[in-house]
Amino acid sequence: MANLGPHKIHRIAINTGGGDAPGLNAVIRAVTLCARRRGWEVLGIRHGYGSLLGGEPVMKLNRQAVLGIASQGGTILGTVNRGNPFETYITVPGCKKKRLAADVIVDNFHKLKIDGLIAVGGDGSMRIGHKLMQMGIPIIGVPKTIDNDMACTHRTFGFDTAVQTATEAIDKLHSTAAAHERIMVVEVMGRYSGWIALHSGLSGSCNVILIPEIPFTMQAICDHILNRRKLGRTYSIVCVAEGAHPKGQGMFFKGGKVRGREQRLGGIGEWVASEITKRTGLETRSLVLGHLQRGGSPSTYDRLLALRYGAAAVRLAAEGMWGNMICFNPPSMGHVPIEEVIRDTKKVSVYDDTVLTGREMGICFGD
Ligand code: F6P
Repeated sequence: MANLGPHKIHRIAINTGGGDAPGLNAVIRAVTLCARRRGWEVLGIRHGYGSLLGGEPVMKLNRQAVLGIASQGGTILGTVNRGNPFETYITVPGCKKKRLAADVIVDNFHKLKIDGLIAVGGDGSMRIGHKLMQMGIPIIGVPKTIDNDMACTHRTFGFDTAVQTATEAIDKLHSTAAAHERIMVVEVMGRYSGWIALHSGLSGSCNVILIPEIPFTMQAICDHILNRRKLGRTYSIVCVAEGAHPKGQGMFFKGGKVRGREQRLGGIGEWVASEITKRTGLETRSLVLGHLQRGGSPSTYDRLLALRYGAAAVRLAAEGMWGNMICFNPPSMGHVPIEEVIRDTKKVSVYDDTVLTGREMGICFGD
């Protein structure tokens, strides 16, 4: 269903899925205002696909409903990052046997006479959207994640704000690290890619940056820190991406596997800190920035980007170009088939100019 051609639209819906990211509300606002100006009705589906699964009813979105929300973090629709509808069976009133959640979503989508869905989410949401499209739901994807790891798009909204938050936190660590002549290890988010660690680590003047794309050795890190000591630099700051890992070892996960959701990364920061103490004898502390990076008001950059993503999605819907995801090809917005996007995630290249900049400035990447 890649291109159905222009067709008359009466009603569209929008939902937000996966972990929240600053800028979601700005997308909702842009989609609502742009669609209403074309005379379309807009429905907000609550908590991922919840409203189509018997959860909270859909929300009617109009100018009043989206008033002043572009500057707010979170999402007025709510979101979920668990429960794949293609792996979940649910009880439906009047039906003895449990039904596949995806089938229920499709039925209720048609019952509500919705012509198309703007699905705002990460790669997991795009994968679900792609399958729902094959079952007859016309979908346009809008990429979202603080991790900036979505393929086929230069930048996702939420990333800039997350990097800003992480950088401000790192800035604050300098004075306490200096006062105590300590090593501080800060773990940031990013899933399987190192965009947040690279950008905040460099901007926050960290001395060591560890990212999943460059497996590290403790020897390289400790040598670097001890060298700095010899040169009279009494403290060091290490920025580690949650997905970073030692050479020859896997990533660090928290808790066990939970059905229907990705395993949670975490713990590498604490491990690196304890290894530094063990190997150098230097006093080391670690902290995890965690969900702080997803919170708060979107930066101006993210707000504007999110508004542009939303407007581009409505434009594409008007052209009948369902089955595509909006992408940002600076300076323009473009689109790409969703099936291309879900093949892989976007990783930091070891030849990235930001990595090169760090290396030339003497930052240690642990290799
Ligand atoms: O994808 C966004 C993200 O914040 C990742 O950086 C992180 O690994 C994950 O979500 C955390 O998910 P949860 O909200 O389930 O803890």
